[in-house]
Parts: sequence; C-alpha cells; structure tokens
Amino acid sequence: MRIGIIGLINHDTIFMAGGRRIQDLGGILYNTTVMADLVGVGDELFPISRIGADCYDAMRAILDPRPAVNTRGISLSPTGTSRNRIRYDEDLEKIEQLTNHVGAISLEQIEPFLDLDALLVNFIVGDDISLETMKAVRGSASGLLYLDVHNLCLGIDAEGYRRRRAPGDWQRWIEMFDVVQMNEVEARLLAGSDHEAAADEPGGAGGTGGPGAAGRPDESYGTDRPGAAGGPAAPGGPGGPLETEDDFIAFGRSVISLGPSVCVITRGPLGPVTVYRKDREAKTFAIPSEPVRDVIDTTGCGDAFAAGFVTEFAASRDPVGATRLANRVASVNCTVAGLPERGTFDDVRI
Ligand SMILES: Nc1ncnc2c1ncn2[C@@H]1O[C@H](COP(=O)(O)OP(=O)(O)OP(=O)(O)O)[C@@H](O)[C@H]1O
Ligand SMILES: [Mg+2]
Repeated sequence: MRIGIIGLINHDTIFMAGGRRIQDLGGILYNTTVMADLVGVGDELFPISRIGADCYDAMRAILDPRPAVNTRGISLSPTGTSRNRIRYDEDLEKIEQLTNHVGAISLEQIEPFLDLDALLVNFIVGDDISLETMKAVRGSASGLLYLDVHNLCLGIDAEGYRRRRAPGDWQRWIEMFDVVQMNEVEARLLAGSDHEAAADEPGGAGGTGGPGAAGRPDESYGTDRPGAAGGPAAPGGPGGPLETEDDFIAFGRSVISLGPSVCVITRGPLGPVTVYRKDREAKTFAIPSEPVRDVIDTTGCGDAFAAGFVTEFAASRDPVGATRLANRVASVNCTVAGLPERGTFDDVRI
C-alpha cells in the first residue's frame, strides 16, 4: 500500500495554568506516526504538507526513525510553520488562536501522489487545501479519497481566533470523497442541529471560541443540506438534534446520499457509528468504544482512528473491519499524551 496524508503540520504552544508552556509539533504528524506503526513491510506513507525551516529538523527527527515514511511530499513554507496558541480562560474553556496562518497545499505539490492507493485529507487549520485543488485531485486521483472533516468546521476570524461553525459549502467537500469521518460535534454542526453550540460553545475537539471570535452558525445552512428536506427539522432526525444512535445513523445515511460510500461518526467514548453503502443499500455498523482503564489524553484519537480506518480500508474495502481496527487503534491512543512513541501501535493490527 502507498498512502498519502494531506494537511498541515502545525506547531502548538499551550499555556498551562501556573505559567507552564508546552510546545509541540502536531497536525498530520499524528496520523502519520500512528500509521507508521500499522502498515506492513514495503508499505509507504507520504505526508503531503508544508512546514517552515524553523521546525523542519524537528519534524525530520520525528519521521526519520519510521522507515515507512517518505518525506518528499513535505515542502518548505517560505512564510514559516503554521502556529497555534492555546490557552484556557477562567472557566477552563480552551481559547485557540492561529498566530501564523500559512497558505494552502498546492495542486502541484499533490500531483506526484495522485496514483497512490489512498489519500487521507485531514483539515488541521481548515484551509489546508482549497476546494479547487481538491476538485482537481478528485478528477485525477486513482485511489481511495478519505476525509477527516476535523477543523473544516473551525472558522478563523481576522485575529486568528478559532470558532466552530459549519462551512457554507460543506456538501461540496463531502461529495468528493469516498469515505468521510467526523466527530459528534462536527456531525451536529453539519446537520445544522446544534445552533446553540455553534453560537456559544468554545473548546473541545480542537474547536474554540475567543475574544472577538465571529461565530456565524446559521448562514451556512441551505435547505438542500442532507435531512433538511425543505421542511421543519424532525425531532431526533437529521436536521433535528442528533442525540440517539439512530439520529447519527440517519444523518450518516444522508451523508452517503451525497456520494461517499462510507460515513463514520466517531462519537468519542460512545464509539463509532459507520453507515456504508453495499449493493445499493445503506447498512449500519455501530460498536461501543474499547474499554480503556487509564485514559491519559484523548487528543488525537480522531487522527488515530483515521489512521486505522484508512490502513485497513485501503487494503480490504471492508468498512466493518476498518471500523473495528480504527476503534482499537483509537483506544490505545487514549493511553498516550502527545505524539506516540514509535511502536505504540505495533500489536493492535492482528
Ligand atoms: N474515552 C475513550 N475510551 C475509548 N476510546 C475512545 C475514547 N475517546 C475516544 N475514543 C476512540 O477514539 C475515537 C475518536 O474519538 P473522537 O470522536 O473524540 O475523535 P475526535 O474528536 O475527532 O478527536 P481528535 O480530533 O482530538 O483527534 C472514538 O470513536 C473511539 O474509538
Ligand atoms: Mg478530529
């Protein structure tokens, strides 16, 4: 298998209570380091990204010990590394601010990788790749296209503060992919059902609000969104509040009606709901998350999940087996903080 991972590598500075500061590289390094443990001998991984010269050596120090990873898809950004500052307000709400907003990954950069078996697109900043570039990729890529919606649902205001919202053109993104992954909050935003959270809720899942953040939750929702059906939202149905497993399944069905053959809604500790098309029919597979005795940090669980799903699905095209592996991989990720040590996931793929 040859798999590409498209998205930015970013540098986070986290200001902890008491003045402690933690600095780390992240972004698609999370997907890449997990996948490096999961793939077999002879498989190759190509992160396709941009990073500044200031962080290049640190990035190589993380990736070079992993023989499956080839860094030739990572280009030097003349405007430096994508930088993000995270602090917590008095209510312990996460406030996230982009302090260096670097440009999108270009089509020229992706072109050498259009023949890979799979391309995973993970929105780290939210505009890591433009819609035009993605359309061109869709038109000529020969392998599987996988989207982790992630920070496509995180707006950026003039000062770089981040706030959750559904992008107005989200259906145009989703229709281009074969497999789409989103977490619970993103599903609610896209379903248009969580207006209150979209307007008021900062924090979590990388999504934050901040002083002056411009939340514009409602402008994005057209009546052609899945589930809207032109009428008032049905309670519990897509377009209404997503609460029960059946609600998520109904929304997943509306997502696959846009084009993808699989929609996975990860739902944190509740476990993933996978809706997929088989023989022209929508099928569902839902499992609880794996029990984890010592949850250390759930940041990056979605990235680990995507790594597991893509690795399995690219080879087998089996959404059930891919969900099972992804769920196991993501549960192991709960037991580590920050980027995983090499070998953390060696035994998960059995
Ligand atoms: N507490 C937990 N215990 C076991 N597994 C978990 C737990 N939290 C998350 N997971 C696993 O991780 C998967 C992804 O979690 P989640 O829905 O939180 O992703 P996410 O919000 O996209 O994460 P991130 O964006 O931080 O990478 C879940 O479907 C589940 O398999
Ligand atoms: Mg995520």
